[in-house]
Amino acid sequence: MLDARVAELLNVQVNKEFYSAYLYLDISNYYVDQGLDGFANWYKIQAQEERDHAMLFMQYLQNNGCKVTLDAIDKPDKVFDSFGAPLHVGYEHEQYVTSLIHNIYDAANAVKDFRTMQFLDWFVKEQGEEETNAEGLIKKYELFGSDPRALYMLDSELGARVYSAPSLVL
Ligand code: FEO
Repeated sequence: MLDARVAELLNVQVNKEFYSAYLYLDISNYYVDQGLDGFANWYKIQAQEERDHAMLFMQYLQNNGCKVTLDAIDKPDKVFDSFGAPLHVGYEHEQYVTSLIHNIYDAANAVKDFRTMQFLDWFVKEQGEEETNAEGLIKKYELFGSDPRALYMLDSELGARVYSAPSLVL
């Protein structure tokens, strides 16, 4: 069995990851409404990845004999006033999620729960990649967003993103 606090934080993370999926679906829907289908596609796939993360946290808990409790998922409540606004929301959200993962890592470390630390290693790396991707989107948008033709090409580039299942298998 896992340490009670570590198990609780992992359970909370299930909800946080599902909320991440919700937030990214909300962003995707915003871009659909704006006619930027490539941006919409990029965030829809991001939402699928977040759902995968939630499932991985659930599976890890269950593999360790822990009961999973599903809580209500918060409603995404951001109002976007420009094409670039959701990109900043996404980047800030990933920084927040990174802090949550690090917090669980700290708790596992405090009780010498090396198994959970090893499980979380994948997420530490994943968060690094997601922050880099989110920051990269902001940079591209700042460079090209104000030119309609360049924005069209950026939208096409983001439309080419395809879903792939997580490399972590439990
Ligand atoms: Fe699963 Fe982007 O955090």
